[in-house]
Amino acid sequence: MVRKLSASGSGLMLGDVFGLLALALISATAVLMLLRRRILKRFKNLDLMRRVHIAVAALGGLFLVLHVAYFITWPLNVEILLGYVSATLALVVWVTGTAFLERFRDSLYFHGTLSLSAVSLMVIHSAAAGLNVPFAFAEVVLVGTTAVAVYKTTQYVGKMRTAGVVKR
Ligand code: HEM
Repeated sequence: MVRKLSASGSGLMLGDVFGLLALALISATAVLMLLRRRILKRFKNLDLMRRVHIAVAALGGLFLVLHVAYFITWPLNVEILLGYVSATLALVVWVTGTAFLERFRDSLYFHGTLSLSAVSLMVIHSAAAGLNVPFAFAEVVLVGTTAVAVYKTTQYVGKMRTAGVVKR
């Protein structure tokens, strides 16, 4: 029997707190970067924004590792597997973010869209495996992240067309 990943009637378990903190920090750092043009109009310091983004992402990653370490279990069910898939995606997000800083400019599209996929998978995992996140919230996040990812994809294809990589 797979252990239920969540609060019992007595309240939140420590592992739940780690997971919720990871989700909040990772979502917050993604929203921060999606709104960076507006924020930069006011503060005009891209370097500081990048540092804050990476620091918050690292803190989120730390809580994610603690969450996985707390709940690590066998055998797996689909909702737990979704958690592992989203944590693996977070690793890919880390690599693509680093690649962008190493001047592999096109990796920003993959960094942005994969980070949104990771966030929506994490929310679905939380709603399905635990008791703390309502399904309605997961549905709203899924629709929102999909809409932003589709918008980013149309922008990226437009850029590729302008660069002559994709023919009309
Ligand atoms: C899981 C954690 C992370 C999430 C959810 C995340 C999410 C995002 C998102 C949504 C964007 C905006 C993409 C766009 O507008 O197309 C972004 C930009 C960026 N991210 Fe991350 N990111 C994470 C971790 C990292 C890490 C670890 C690094 C570097 C080591 C990094 C470096 C960057 C950079 C350099 C940018 C672009 C900043 C600019 O416009 O100059 N990110 N990130």
